[in-house]
Amino acid sequence: MTDHLTVVSHPLVQHKLTIMREKETSTAVFRQLLREISLLLAYEVTRDLPVSTKKIETPLCEMDAPQLDGKKLALVSILRAGNGLLDGILELIPSARVGFVGLYRDEETLQPVEYYFKVPAEIDDRVVIVVDPMLATGNSSAAAIDMIKNAGAKNIIFLCLLAAPEGVAKMKEAHPDVPIVTASLDDGLTDQGYITPGLGDAGDRMFGTK
Ligand code: URA
Repeated sequence: MTDHLTVVSHPLVQHKLTIMREKETSTAVFRQLLREISLLLAYEVTRDLPVSTKKIETPLCEMDAPQLDGKKLALVSILRAGNGLLDGILELIPSARVGFVGLYRDEETLQPVEYYFKVPAEIDDRVVIVVDPMLATGNSSAAAIDMIKNAGAKNIIFLCLLAAPEGVAKMKEAHPDVPIVTASLDDGLTDQGYITPGLGDAGDRMFGTK
C-alpha cells in the first residue's frame, strides 16, 4: 500500500454507508451494515498482506499454493467504536491477533489520555491494522498510533469508515508512514468535532447508547 489515503468507492460499500448515515436507521440495521461493510473494507486493507506458499495435493497433482501468513497479522481496535469494525474483520481473518487501545479526551486539556493498552506479542514483526470508524480531528488516532509504535510496531495501516480532511492532514503530519483506508472522505468537522455530513456518534449508533 503506497498511497497515504485510499477511499474504497465500491458501490456495495457506498450503498451500505448511505443507509448507515441516515438518522432513522435503527441500531440493529446499523450494526448489521457495519459488520457487512467491515468485510468489504477488510478485503481492501489486506490487499498487500504477505503470502507464502505451501505444498498441497489437489486430486490431480501437487502444487505450491499461496496461503496467508496469518500469524503475522495484528488487529488493534481503538475502544469503543473500533470494536464494530473489528468483529467483521475477525470473521474474515479468524487467526489474527488482537489488541486494544482505550483513550478518552481530557475535558480541560482536550488531549487524549490513555486508560487501556494491550497489544499482541511480537508486534514489531506484524502488519498491524488499527481500526476506528471515525477519523475526525485525528488527535486520538495519532496518539493511539504513537502508543502502538512505542510498543514496537513498524508496519501499520489505519482503517476507518469515515475520514474528515482535518484528520487525514493530522495523520499525514504525525504518521506519514501509515496509510489510511476509508469508505469516505467527508467534508469537514462541526465545532463539536463531529464529522459532517457524517453519521453522528458511531459508538452511540452501534451500541444504542444516548
Ligand atoms: N466520533 C464519532 O463517533 N463521530 C464523529 O462524527 C466524530 C468522532
